Amino acid sequence: MPVITEIEDLHRLYRRRVPKMFYDYCQSGSWTEQTYRENETDFDLIRLRQRVAVDMENRSTASTMIGRDVAMPVALAPVGLTGMQHADGEILAAQAAEAAGVPFTLSTMSICSIEDVAEHTSKPFWFQLYVMRDEKFVDATLERARAAGCDALVLTLDLQILGQRHKDLKNGLSAPPKLTPASIANMMTKVRWGLNMAQTKRRFFGNIVGHADGVGDASSLSSWTAEQFDPRLDWDKVKRIADKWGGKLILKGILDAEDARMALQVGADAIVVSNHGGRQLDGALSSIRMLPEIVDEVGSRTEIHMDGGIRSGQDVLKALALGARGTYIGRAFIYGLGAMGRKGVETALEVIRKELDTTMALCGEKNVHDLGPNNLLVPKGFRGEWEGRNA
Ligand code: GLV
Repeated sequence: MPVITEIEDLHRLYRRRVPKMFYDYCQSGSWTEQTYRENETDFDLIRLRQRVAVDMENRSTASTMIGRDVAMPVALAPVGLTGMQHADGEILAAQAAEAAGVPFTLSTMSICSIEDVAEHTSKPFWFQLYVMRDEKFVDATLERARAAGCDALVLTLDLQILGQRHKDLKNGLSAPPKLTPASIANMMTKVRWGLNMAQTKRRFFGNIVGHADGVGDASSLSSWTAEQFDPRLDWDKVKRIADKWGGKLILKGILDAEDARMALQVGADAIVVSNHGGRQLDGALSSIRMLPEIVDEVGSRTEIHMDGGIRSGQDVLKALALGARGTYIGRAFIYGLGAMGRKGVETALEVIRKELDTTMALCGEKNVHDLGPNNLLVPKGFRGEWEGRNA
């Protein structure tokens, strides 16, 4: 059994164990991948303020996200095709999240369906919606999420069209994977993955196949999004969907203070400062760099969550100290899942929890709620000075 001490250990195992097509899907940003890289490297620019001789007993990472108790403010982000990273991946990740006391978010583009995940878990999970042209499909999906007991809708706003990720096109990414000489040769080297996959029936986009009419090629994320995602999604439509849902609403993909103000008008319970893990608008600023401006703008009026680039508990602490109430991990839990299934997701969460707890202690804090900018050393000009901005 390998000794896992950090997320990178899971990443190395993940890379060895999962077919290249799905590894590349997770490990890509759009175009030049500048935003994808900077989501991580901008965290490194921020340093921590070491404090000493502070009583460190009875620490707590517990908090709430949109009113829900969480063992730490780190949710699992919605990730498409999770069930291709490991057979039954969404079910396993949801179970791991439940065991760790953090929320799980199911993607519209999951392999296991809403009902599948509900059947195999006992706590409500959050459902992430992509808005499709087909309103009947959207309405029916909301109804299914409600019936499955989902207690929040995470509406993604930054993917009306798909950002281009070169490797996915070159690999012919699809679920189930298309059998080409190259993909077969690669999959033959991933024995454990293949054996697990052979034993499950869940190999298609479970929320879509059998639920949407007139589906063209539902196995390909790129052709499905091009055909079906609604490019007309605007704030009126967001409002209509929010009203239809009627429950807790999290708006994901906000990277601009003006959009954050619009999100408030729709009545979002939280917004997620996000650039979709650097997978959409390449050239946008990193999430951690945009976070302070958005916190200044709307932080007193709604909950601010963030994702993008979190690979450690230190990163979580930095985001919380800059004003995020909650964070999400995507790739960090996928590494665990691909490496070791449910146990790997539990390990990823435990690695991050321990890092957060120890970092908090060494910063002289006992409670995540007490974290603030005074725990950080943020380089001058971190937000950047941009023409037409910062006026
Ligand atoms: C969307 O699901 C993505 O691939 O980023």
